[in-house]
Amino acid sequence: MLLTEIDHVALAVRDLEAAVDYHRRAFGATVAHRETVERDGVEEALLAVADSYIQLISPTRPDSPVARFIERRGEGLHHVGYRVEDCAAALAAMVAAGATPIDREPRSGSRGTTIAFVHPKGSFGTLIELVEE
Ligand code: CO
Repeated sequence: MLLTEIDHVALAVRDLEAAVDYHRRAFGATVAHRETVERDGVEEALLAVADSYIQLISPTRPDSPVARFIERRGEGLHHVGYRVEDCAAALAAMVAAGATPIDREPRSGSRGTTIAFVHPKGSFGTLIELVEE
């Protein structure tokens, strides 16, 4: 088994502050990590849940993929992050099983992780992010 944890579920939101505030009021959740990832045009807030996270993401520019996602489909579930020991090995295994990679090679993600995205097409409709800590 290559997966070690559900690393995070990512929710695309228009207003990051409002979403953080909502999760604080509803669940008492606090922000464990915040980061802007310019390459992806997103600002994220990670809310810790046991050893996993809820990742709230909002666009930093109107042409970012997350901005286009919200425009097309509205706010909501954007992707699921699967935690793995070895991102490159897990990516190769997914591709061998018929998945379509978005990232051909692992790259750096937020909080110092190594990540790769895999296209929803070929993975039963869900955008998957492999996360190696
Ligand atoms: Co993510």
